[in-house]
Amino acid sequence: MIKTSAEIRQAFLDFFHERGHEVVPSSPLVPGNDPTLLFTNAGMVPFKDVFLGREQRGYTRAVSSQRCVRAGGKHNDLENVGYTARHHTFFEMLGNFSFGDYFKREAIGYAWTFLTEVIGLPAERLWVTVYEEDDEAADIWLKEIGVDPSRFSRIGAHDNFWSMGDTGPCGPCSEIFYDHGPEVPGGPPGSPDEDGDRYIEIWNLVFMQYDRDADGNMAPLPKPSIDTGMGLERIAAVVQGVHNNFDIDLFRRLVAAAGEVTGCEDHTNSSLRVIADHIRACAFLIVDGVFPSNEGRGYVLRRIIRRAVRHGYKLGVSQTFFHRLVQPLVDEMGAAFPELVRGQPQAEKILRQEEERFRETLEQG
Ligand code: SER
Repeated sequence: MIKTSAEIRQAFLDFFHERGHEVVPSSPLVPGNDPTLLFTNAGMVPFKDVFLGREQRGYTRAVSSQRCVRAGGKHNDLENVGYTARHHTFFEMLGNFSFGDYFKREAIGYAWTFLTEVIGLPAERLWVTVYEEDDEAADIWLKEIGVDPSRFSRIGAHDNFWSMGDTGPCGPCSEIFYDHGPEVPGGPPGSPDEDGDRYIEIWNLVFMQYDRDADGNMAPLPKPSIDTGMGLERIAAVVQGVHNNFDIDLFRRLVAAAGEVTGCEDHTNSSLRVIADHIRACAFLIVDGVFPSNEGRGYVLRRIIRRAVRHGYKLGVSQTFFHRLVQPLVDEMGAAFPELVRGQPQAEKILRQEEERFRETLEQG
């Protein structure tokens, strides 16, 4: 039975490896050679030049669990974090990729098999959307996979056309949602009350077809490709039967650790969730070479650290505490990310210094 976050990550990598995909380790959060992007914000970012045909690799199929940060720049979720069930500054994106190898049919078939057979989700709990003009994807879902037409919708470009930024690879997409059941308010995708929490997007299959330039012109990519992304924390919530990502195994333990260092016993307290979320982003950013500063990436890191420290303050903590959460984080994620283990002393040191500096400022003010 696949249950824990670690088991899901491994099952995903194994499933695609068995289907000819190269298992590619997560790249750093700072994208190499891409000044258009603040942070790696999706699994496809390290492969951008491969999609564009500017870089060749020794494989045309890849699978990864990529660490991502969505704070600052496009896809910025910072202020929501801690107060919603599913926003994070840092998350892991499971993804399979085809660089001019397979296209829509295989991508859809793989996703369906993984969800219904490997993870064992009931088909009647899933809901599928396609881009409104994408008849090809619609036919594959309805006629080949046999998805129930009453659990299927066509959606416009706002939700079903994905781009990594203002420029770069993009294309129509097909999303798979999990239905948490009628007890949870919210309508299906494309309905007027779709913002409710009942139907949760779990997997985005992007049919990469274009390269968008700064004027918005879309040139076809050298070869149609596939980029899929499934948030590990979301799928873990589904598999573990919880509705809030902060209730999954990995977060329950980080929240408990935050409770311990701050002396807060109410593990549903939003401040603990903020702190548990932010330690992941901050520790990994430092491991990946970002340092607190007053501009660019360093400034985003500084804001995230300060947000966490302010929430500690709110809970009445009077000692520096944030750096003490690096160890529990290493316990959770060090096995999957050896760079975190190597960078632990550095992360602890920088976080402690930054918190001390910030506390001085707060105390003077
Ligand atoms: N790039 C797409 C996303 O981020 C799929 O990986 O949703």
